[in-house]
Amino acid sequence: MRYSKYSDLDHKLREAIDRKRWSAVQKISLTLFNSLSKKVSKEKRAFFDEKQAKPMPSGEPAQTILITGGAGFIGSHLIEELLREGHSVVAIDNFNEVYEPYKKWQNVERFTGLPRFKLVVGDIRDTVALNRAFRLAYESGKGDFQVIHLAALAGVIQSIPKSEPIAPLNDKQAAGYSPADREYYEVNIMGTANVLVLSRRYGAKNIVAASSSSVYGGNENPPFKETDDTDRPLGPYAASKKMNEYQAWTYYLNHNIPITMLRYFTVYGIRGRPEMVFWSFFDNMRKGLPIKQRGPDTSTRSYTHISDVTRGMIACTREKYIRENFYKKKKRYLLAERKGTKVSLDDRDAVEVLNIGGSQTVELGYLRKLMAKNLGVKPEVDMQKPNPAEVPVSSAITCKAEHLIGYKARMTIERGVEEYGRWYHIQERYQPVYDRYRNLRDKMKGKRGRVSANDLKKAIDVAEQLKRLLIELDPDKIKVDKSEYLVAYNYLAETYGLIQKIAW
Ligand SMILES: NC(=O)c1ccc[n+]([C@@H]2O[C@H](COP(=O)([O-])OP(=O)(O)OC[C@H]3O[C@@H](n4cnc5c(N)ncnc54)[C@H](O)[C@@H]3O)[C@@H](O)[C@H]2O)c1
Repeated sequence: MRYSKYSDLDHKLREAIDRKRWSAVQKISLTLFNSLSKKVSKEKRAFFDEKQAKPMPSGEPAQTILITGGAGFIGSHLIEELLREGHSVVAIDNFNEVYEPYKKWQNVERFTGLPRFKLVVGDIRDTVALNRAFRLAYESGKGDFQVIHLAALAGVIQSIPKSEPIAPLNDKQAAGYSPADREYYEVNIMGTANVLVLSRRYGAKNIVAASSSSVYGGNENPPFKETDDTDRPLGPYAASKKMNEYQAWTYYLNHNIPITMLRYFTVYGIRGRPEMVFWSFFDNMRKGLPIKQRGPDTSTRSYTHISDVTRGMIACTREKYIRENFYKKKKRYLLAERKGTKVSLDDRDAVEVLNIGGSQTVELGYLRKLMAKNLGVKPEVDMQKPNPAEVPVSSAITCKAEHLIGYKARMTIERGVEEYGRWYHIQERYQPVYDRYRNLRDKMKGKRGRVSANDLKKAIDVAEQLKRLLIELDPDKIKVDKSEYLVAYNYLAETYGLIQKIAW
């Protein structure tokens, strides 16, 4: 996809602007907008249909999957992989402000307009919005669809409310009283309840939901396996995730819909959440700021690369896994019940809880050194007191997932840091350009028809910067995720749309 094809039109556009021939500006920018938009949507389809042409790894038919929290870090990677495998996806996300919503819009920008992708902007606590998403998935799969539930408030430390004075509330204060822990319980527990009841109502075929390694909480004997003690979560986030596992268990018991709870261990990768170690260390090191390290160099994690997490989730949607683990078990105990044999809860316990962890247990000090080496810096370390809600050591035993879904983490931390470093440098270049594009777009909202030479200049400037960026992001030249390139191309098309609007 080469922009040079359009340089003639571009040249004419500049001439028309210089001569203040607004109707020509309008016409040319509209032509550019239309042709680029068409091109982007063709490229998007080609990219997402590329793998579909090949038979699916499991030889299975394409499915419809409803994903909650689809605009987030894990959700957006999952959608990309599912679409590339040929599945259809309905996503719901409320684009909350836990971190910058524009980052989430950038995450989903690469899928918008694709016929196999639908997005509902809404909250899982709102049954009307959630129902809309379920109805879309139900219709898309002709009644046959699965659910992957990721929407949640996801910060471990952020779930602990700031200390408050002990004092009574008046009615007005009580009406708006929602400290962090209350919000976590409301979204993570009530939101999950909504996802479960609608899954039942719509007859979802299978549910995969995000739990967390934080459920191991006060357990001080890593590495952890699924049967280890999880009775002492260290904060509201971990407690809400443990509650999700209980919800799943009782739900399966009463309604027989297959459900798998995945305990992820510190997931990292490109487009990761900004409050997590990968982003905050890289960002501070790059800016020459001291890095804020909570916990000693010896504290450990099973950092799990996003590609391993995505593969793990998708493996739980495969027919064979569902058949072997849920339907066969169900058939067995139904048969036993019919024969009058006593069926214990253990026999019926078919909710699978699986650890999804990385291939190595990594010390924080080693991770910091890898990052510093990647950036070629010697960072100043500002040692902070560890937060009591965070576990000091955590590592995973993933034998159960290996046995049931063939899960084996492939990415090493060394390669993961290298990939992250490459992406960090790329996003450092594109983010300021995207910010300028967004500012201009927001400024132009509802402002049709007021030609301002200054706005036009700005828009042309943004288009120029985007074009330069496209040359840099060319996936044929550098190792960059092609979908990243498509996002930039889309913004360029939209910028011409803005120019047309300004000159209206
Ligand atoms: N990233 C990790 O290391 C990690 C580890 C363990 C578990 N998890 C779990 O994985 C899931 C995804 O995490 P992530 O890292 O992608 O976080 P994320 O914050 O990037 O993604 C969560 C998404 O859910 C959306 N969301 C939140 N509340 C919502 C609501 N009420 N209605 C609709 N959408 C809502 C957010 O806008 C966001 O886009 C979460 O359930 C999290 O608890 C993540």
